[in-house]
Amino acid sequence: MPDIASTFTPPKLRVLVPAEKIKERIEELGKQISADYQGPIIMIGILKGAFIFMSDLARVIENPTRIDFMGISSYGNSKSTSGEVRLTKDLDMSVEGLDVLVVEDIVDSGVTLTYLIHLLSQRRPRSIRIAALLDKPDRRMRPIKVNYCGFEIPDEFVVGFGLDYAEEHRNLKDICVLEG
Ligand code: IMP
Ligand code: MG
Repeated sequence: MPDIASTFTPPKLRVLVPAEKIKERIEELGKQISADYQGPIIMIGILKGAFIFMSDLARVIENPTRIDFMGISSYGNSKSTSGEVRLTKDLDMSVEGLDVLVVEDIVDSGVTLTYLIHLLSQRRPRSIRIAALLDKPDRRMRPIKVNYCGFEIPDEFVVGFGLDYAEEHRNLKDICVLEG
């Protein structure tokens, strides 16, 4: 039997944002979002990277909230966008007339969100805003405004707290730079 552990590459990681700082920042974002919206919101988490940020953020928002997810794929196993975006899972609910908060792990080139915002706006929501745990503004190819940003980070490839490289490292508590 092959040893399953031998199929995992030992990572070289450097902590960029520690778990405690992430927790504090998400609490601040929750307060800000709760103050900005008067009524109910629908949170749309972008799979898979946003799943941890989504679950923490949802629990610090005080408004009545519906939760849904969309699946988008643009990377394959590479470290930068292929430029081609594919919908792998659509919403279960209608967003018509609702205040939509898109919850994303990281905004990099902006290609994914440009596609998504275009798609969602055709469904006539009342508003669309973006909450992203991380923003890499240096890499932007499309103009995307992040309404609620956790941390601006330099142009480095990060993993952890939901973010992956080739489907690994999503479960790390800290946001780490993957070196090498
Ligand atoms: P964009 O379309 O280039 O803005 O890419 C957004 C998506 O790329 C994110 O939702 C992530 O899934 C992925 N991504 C971009 N930068 C990183 C990174 O540093 N680590 C892990 N995933 C990333
Ligand atoms: Mg993603």
